[in-house]
Order: sequence, then structure tokens, then C-alpha cells
Amino acid sequence: NDRYCVFGNPVGHSKSPAIHNTFAEQTGESLEYTAIEAPLEDFVGAWRAFVAEGGRGASVTVPFKEDAYRLCDSLSEQAQRAGAVNTLTLKADGSVEGHNTDGIGLVADLERQQVRLEGARILVLGAGGAVRGALETLLSRRPASLRLANRTAAKAEALARDFADLGPIQGGGYDAADERYDLVINGTSASLAGDLPPLPEDLFNEGAVAYDMMYGAEPTVFLAWSAERGASTSDGLGMLVEQAAAAFEHWRGVTPDTGPLHRKLRAELD
Ligand code: ATR
Repeated sequence: NDRYCVFGNPVGHSKSPAIHNTFAEQTGESLEYTAIEAPLEDFVGAWRAFVAEGGRGASVTVPFKEDAYRLCDSLSEQAQRAGAVNTLTLKADGSVEGHNTDGIGLVADLERQQVRLEGARILVLGAGGAVRGALETLLSRRPASLRLANRTAAKAEALARDFADLGPIQGGGYDAADERYDLVINGTSASLAGDLPPLPEDLFNEGAVAYDMMYGAEPTVFLAWSAERGASTSDGLGMLVEQAAAAFEHWRGVTPDTGPLHRKLRAELD
């Protein structure tokens, strides 16, 4: 069997093995996918050891996405732009290719839920790694505008400059998010602390969607706040499934049906 794994630290709660083994069963691909806790100071050693034991590819999660980026011989456009890799692939010539499917996962989850991106006015909260990973794919869908708002305004401004060649993107502080939006994506980690970024009351256009990259059994404060103001809401559980599907497709050349997994993981959260 071909071997794959997810590297993280900690990695015990990762849903990736269950997701990829379900994809393998469903598509009839014979592979084995496990979770490996790499030591914080030696990600490269863990990857090399895995390859020596027959590893063909790996998912990479916190805190190793930048380490993974640095060890690659070649990078996809998304990975290059993200400065981070969540999917490693060992090529036939022994070289390592890095890809980043986080943005593809986000956009696939939005499109699965019939959220229109083309021509939309989009607000993205945050300017960290999670947001950087999503911008290339979001801009590829040709929104009317994409505004980045962050607690540290200078980080959002710098990030917007890095992506300005790809579309109409602007960055600033929360006070600059002074229009109405069709889609508001929370890419901050504020939800983890139960915090809500300081947002104006009249943030949403008619029919707007609020999306949080985080997920849990209960809606995040951002999603609860958004629902009270009339937005449709989605958490980031579907993004997890779709980024995995994109990685699986990249490795195996077959597209899994993600529908059953979306329902199964949702049921397991409750
Ligand atoms: P990640 O990889 O999850 O994106 P990160 O790169 O550390 O993590 O970025 C965290 C993001 O969440 C940043 O945009 C951060 O804002 P700052 O750049 O101003 O630090 C944002 N963030 C974290 N905690 C927050 C809070 N309590 N309120 C508002 N924004 C918060």
C-alpha cells in the first residue's frame, strides 16, 4: 500500500486520517493514511524518515506549514503565494512538490453552498497565515472587491500589497471596513478566545453570508453575531473536508465525493 500521513504537533485530534481513509475506501484507492506527531525542532527529519519507510505524500498542519514550504523543491502557485505548504508530494524523481489546498478548500466549500464570489464585495477579517493561504484562490474568482481588516492594520496593508497584482484588494484596520459586504470571512483566531473583532453594525448587504474558518459544536461568537444581523452563516468544517479532497485528488488523480463526509463530520460534532 502507498503510505500517506498528516504531520502536526499535536496531531492526536486530527480528523485527516478518518477523512482520507474514507476517500480511499470510496474511490477504491489502496493506501494507508496515518497521523504522525513530528518533533517541533525536526520536521525535516520526520518527513525524511517517513519517505524512507515508503511515504508518498503528506498533509501538513500546525505548526509545520512554513517548515514544509522551505523543504520543497518545487511549489504550486498557491503555495508560493501562501508562503506555506499543507500538502507534500514525493515525485517519481525523488523531488518534493509543495502545494497549498487551504484556499481551494475554502472556495470549494463556499461554492458547494452556492455562495457567489464573482462580482461580490468581500471582507476578510485577519491578516495571518490562514488568510494569506486563502487569498490567491479567492482573488481568482474575480470578486468586485476584497478588503482585509486586521487588528494590526499595517499587517493587512502589507498583505494586500503582496496580492495587489492578482485583483482589487485593499488592507487596513477594522475602522476601514465601512461599507456593506456580500461575504464576510473570519480568518482571525479571535474565535478561539471567544473574542469578536470590533465590527460596525451595518456590515451586511441583503443576502450576505458570514463564514468562519474555525468550527466547533457551537457557533463562534462571530457567527452568532452575524446571524443576529441577518446573515446566512457557515463555519469552517466544510473547508477542512474540501482541502483534504483537493490534496487527495492531487495525489491520486481521482476526485472523491465529499457530500457524505460533510454530513458525517457534522453529525459527529454535535
Ligand atoms: P493563523 O495562522 O491562524 O492565521 P496568525 O498568523 O497568528 O494565525 O494570525 C492570527 C490572526 O488573528 C491575526 O490577524 C491576528 O491579528 P493581529 O495581526 O493584529 O495580531 C488575529 N487575532 C488573534 N487574536 C485576536 C483577537 N483577540 N482579536 C482580533 N484579532 C485577533
